[in-house]
Amino acid sequence: MPVTSRTQVGIVGAGPAGLLLSHLLALAGVDSVVVENRTRAYCEARQRAGLLEAGTVELLRSVGLGKRLDAEGIEHDGIYLQFLGERHHLNFRELTDGRWVTVYAQTEIVKDLIAARLANGGAIEFSCSDVSVSGVTSDRPMLSYTDSSGVAHEVSCDVIAGCDGFHGVCRPLIPDLQVSERTYPYAWLGILANAAPSTDELIYSRHADGFALYSMRSPEVSRLYLQVAPDESLDRWPDDRIWAELQKRFALDGWSVSEGPITDKSVTAMRSFVAAPMRHGRLFLAGDAAHIVPPTGAKGLNLALSDVVVLANALRALLKEGSWKLADAYSDTCLRRVWRCTHFSWWMTSMLHVTPGSDAFESQLQLAQLSYVSSSRAAALSLAENYSGYEPVRFEL
Ligand code: FAD
Ligand code: DHB
Repeated sequence: MPVTSRTQVGIVGAGPAGLLLSHLLALAGVDSVVVENRTRAYCEARQRAGLLEAGTVELLRSVGLGKRLDAEGIEHDGIYLQFLGERHHLNFRELTDGRWVTVYAQTEIVKDLIAARLANGGAIEFSCSDVSVSGVTSDRPMLSYTDSSGVAHEVSCDVIAGCDGFHGVCRPLIPDLQVSERTYPYAWLGILANAAPSTDELIYSRHADGFALYSMRSPEVSRLYLQVAPDESLDRWPDDRIWAELQKRFALDGWSVSEGPITDKSVTAMRSFVAAPMRHGRLFLAGDAAHIVPPTGAKGLNLALSDVVVLANALRALLKEGSWKLADAYSDTCLRRVWRCTHFSWWMTSMLHVTPGSDAFESQLQLAQLSYVSSSRAAALSLAENYSGYEPVRFEL
């Protein structure tokens, strides 16, 4: 017989979305249980995003998660765009009303969230198997799973939050889902290297041989990406070839990429994906469970956390005050931001990558756009406003 229990919100997935939701709900006095199929160590080490919008930083600070972020995060005023062998700086702080971005890795946000939940007695079950959700159109949906010791559980909930990423079990429970999707004919090869970054801010470089991005994790660790073929094998990319390609795509007189031991290498596919609606009955999707953007605009993580703020406000109103108003509006409210970010990420991706087999017309359009963004205040402001975070959401404390 399964062990039965009761909570208000059953959360599937201990990524940034599920963990932040559990944290915000606790602040609002709403109980939750987080069920995750990976180990805690795996969740804390998964290399992914690294760049936070100003609004995301302000949110994390306002809910007690700013201590290590403020000590270790690196604030940047803007970014560099490089094309035709020249590097141009876009200063977001000057262009906007003082907006900025902060480098702070997703791994660190996940560590901070897990530590904060466990310190406050929060329930997170790692290493679960057979996770499933049922009864989402009834008043008492059920979250079922087998824990790491092999014991089966059934948790009776008021609401289920599907924060289980792109390959999770929750999205398929929504009938008549409308999916809008694009795949791109390239992927990113990402590396982490023990090398002091030789740039103060991120460089997005369009080179005739493909896009490259220079990011960082700390004053000692660089994070770099190269556009590669979608089915690229890491076996074809020994360290020497990676550094040679990076030096070529970022080449500038009197300057070079600083090299060091590579500690992580991976290839990430590029896709845009939006599923609607994001709610069915008492099941709400948030983050990558509902949408994916290509990484070029650094939106994925920020978007996931914005969904969660909208959801936490809605669930507080529903579970503390009995009002369905915000819950009913949840999907439409989120999808407006999702589509803005989907457009921005697609636009940045299309402007900076070389499409295999493309002709001079496409390259000239890309160069014309890059030149416009680097010289017109209006065009630069549009990029700055989207990149640093358009219309940040607020958690009602
Ligand atoms: P996730 O982080 O995917 O978390 C979902 C969680 O659910 C995971 O812990 C997963 O193990 C768990 N889960 C899945 N299925 C189940 C199940 N059946 N039962 C229980 N738990 C389950 N964004 C950027 O902005 N910049 C980047 O450079 C960048 N790089 C990325 C690289 C990769 C390889 C990927 C996959 C994504 C990247 N992203 C990037 C996107 C960004 O990391 C995501 O948008 C962000 O992780 C979304 O958070 P999430 O909590 O919604 O989903
Ligand atoms: C990082 C990733 C991105 O996709 C991006 O646009 C900026 C930074 C990063 O991993 O640091």
